[in-house]
Amino acid sequence: MTKIKSVSAIEILDSRGRPTLLVTCRLVDGTVGRASVPSGASTGGAEALELRDNDPARYGGYGCLKAMGHVNNDINVHIAGSNFETQADLDHALIELDGTPNKSRLGANAILGVSLAFARTVAIQQNIELYQYFAGLSGQSATLPRPMINLFSGGIHGGQQTAIQDIQLVVPNVDTVQRTLEVISDVYRAAAKRASERYDMRLLTADEGGLAPPFQSSTDMFVEAVASIEDAGYTPDEDVVLTVDVAASHFYEGSKYHIDGEILDSDAMTDRIAEWCEQFPVISVEDGLADTDWDAWQGLYKQIGDDTMVLGDDLLCTNPERIQRAIDTRSANSLLLKVNQIGTLTEALRAYQLAREAGWQVVVSARSGETEDDWLADLATGVAGDYIKVGSITQSERLAKYNRLLVLENETDLTLASG
Ligand code: PGA
Ligand code: ZN
Repeated sequence: MTKIKSVSAIEILDSRGRPTLLVTCRLVDGTVGRASVPSGASTGGAEALELRDNDPARYGGYGCLKAMGHVNNDINVHIAGSNFETQADLDHALIELDGTPNKSRLGANAILGVSLAFARTVAIQQNIELYQYFAGLSGQSATLPRPMINLFSGGIHGGQQTAIQDIQLVVPNVDTVQRTLEVISDVYRAAAKRASERYDMRLLTADEGGLAPPFQSSTDMFVEAVASIEDAGYTPDEDVVLTVDVAASHFYEGSKYHIDGEILDSDAMTDRIAEWCEQFPVISVEDGLADTDWDAWQGLYKQIGDDTMVLGDDLLCTNPERIQRAIDTRSANSLLLKVNQIGTLTEALRAYQLAREAGWQVVVSARSGETEDDWLADLATGVAGDYIKVGSITQSERLAKYNRLLVLENETDLTLASG
């Protein structure tokens, strides 16, 4: 019996020092579970609405008191005393109560907090690990996801010194999370040394803990990443490969890409991406084009999609309708899964299933605003995500997820997804 006694929320702070929600779910049998909600900065236009107070007198308008109130009042009144047999039953009740297409009445932050807190509470009640609960929901046999780890940031995450947003590293041929982190740590240290020598400055880190030196161009970020891999004693392409989050929607204006002083049309931007993929060991390109530039995505897919992940974040927004469109038009071949883009676990899992049915790869992703909660590691493991994207190996809101993967690696028989 998963009869809910109450749900309640408080405002806590995320890694940017902005409020977010921590939701507590209590069952009638006394089981209690909690979960907190992440928040993006480079958000997609089609994301579910994160409800903020917009009261400039509190947290610069980022307060979450309205969303908190919706959990404590509307949602609690509606679901307390009810018995929900499944996650989908609860999530559908929340979607219906909200009644809007983008969760703008109650707020996706309020709804997701309840959805996640319920998941954690039921896992506790059933005396199973959270990843096992998620594996049950997804029908997958759990696997540890391969980390895709942030090295450099520009764009909205870095301070706009370059147009593109993030360069990540993947260690393709090792078979543990532990060894992955050792290798990445070596490269991170080499990159930090290079950057401090080259720019003669104290290093600044970006929203996801990556390095954000004043690169002269986006291409420079790739060059420096490859040089850092070499400095650390590894062979680029063999030992360590790159992924890039171009986050192109955020420098797309008037149907043109404004990149590091140049103005490119969609074809030229596509060619630029293809050049990066030729010159550097890039296995995945996320949001290479803007989330409204659908036709151009087909061209990008044709140019690089045979041997590169064409990964949709802002393009897809974890939204089943947008994913279906991308499948039908052959515009992408990989899904970035962020549950707060859609607002409930059930809808995120529907997005996941669609992507899998199309033979896509799946990257389970954190947001640039995170908390110390580690449910994302369990989600990525439970749905057998190919990759997990959490940010750098600095900052505890990132490490909470990597460290949880280390616990799972050490305490279970789970193995790492193939790279
Ligand atoms: P966000 O960035 O959380 O700021 O949206 C992450 C990403 O773009 O992948
Ligand atoms: Zn992205």
